[in-house]
Amino acid sequence: MKKIIALILAAIMLTCAFVGCKDDSTDDSGDTAKPKLTVATSPDFPPFENLENGKVVGIEVEIMEIICEKLGYELVIEQIAFDSVIPGIETGKYDCGMSGISVTPDREESVLFTAPYCLAAQCIVVKADSAIASKADLAGKTIAVQLGTTADEFCRGEGYNVQSFEANPDAKLALTSGTVDAWVVDDLTAAEMCKGDSSVKILSENMTTEPYAFAFNFKDEELVDKFDEVIADLMADGTIASIFAKYEAPYTAPANN
Ligand code: ARG
Repeated sequence: MKKIIALILAAIMLTCAFVGCKDDSTDDSGDTAKPKLTVATSPDFPPFENLENGKVVGIEVEIMEIICEKLGYELVIEQIAFDSVIPGIETGKYDCGMSGISVTPDREESVLFTAPYCLAAQCIVVKADSAIASKADLAGKTIAVQLGTTADEFCRGEGYNVQSFEANPDAKLALTSGTVDAWVVDDLTAAEMCKGDSSVKILSENMTTEPYAFAFNFKDEELVDKFDEVIADLMADGTIASIFAKYEAPYTAPANN
């Protein structure tokens, strides 16, 4: 009899231990774990995103951190090549694309963009001693661009000889090493990557102007609406402008915002 009672007691204790343990863990994680937002980025694009001591930092990282904080997400950054960002959103491999992505009609067919948060331009970088002084001088010249960017598309459309590089530092190197005649890249990135480099100059004539936004899969319309609300607030209260100022980058608000 005693044995049976002991066995029953042991069984009850064991059951409680298991149930208790399971409950505890769900309680713990339920209280603290936020849903993850997996954000794909090509961190070769200062001041928006670049690597510092192995960490992705920059204007877009700061904006994204604030948005995730406000919407209750844990931000998980995945580093990938720029030309894989939009396909990765389309297939649902990543939740969001954060890569100084310019909104274009073509891309709007593949992904759902948030409201734009700034306006950028494509500019022309040449060697300091280059005779190229404007866009008109680029005819017949060889131009370096980053693969899959609007610069890539624009320069091919213009009929230039284009050399596409997976990462921006390689596109710049092609210019400084004399492999190409010019490098076409977004204005603030050109300014940042050419800071203090007297071997190159940025021409004053820009190629295009383009708004930047974050990209999502079409299924995430509700989340994009929430992003848009936060972006509107951050533009209205000057937060976005102040993040640009922190990176000493001139801020241009997108049109109609
Ligand atoms: N704004 C350009 C585009 O959308 C270039 C973006 C490059 N971004 C990067 N993280 N390397 O095509």
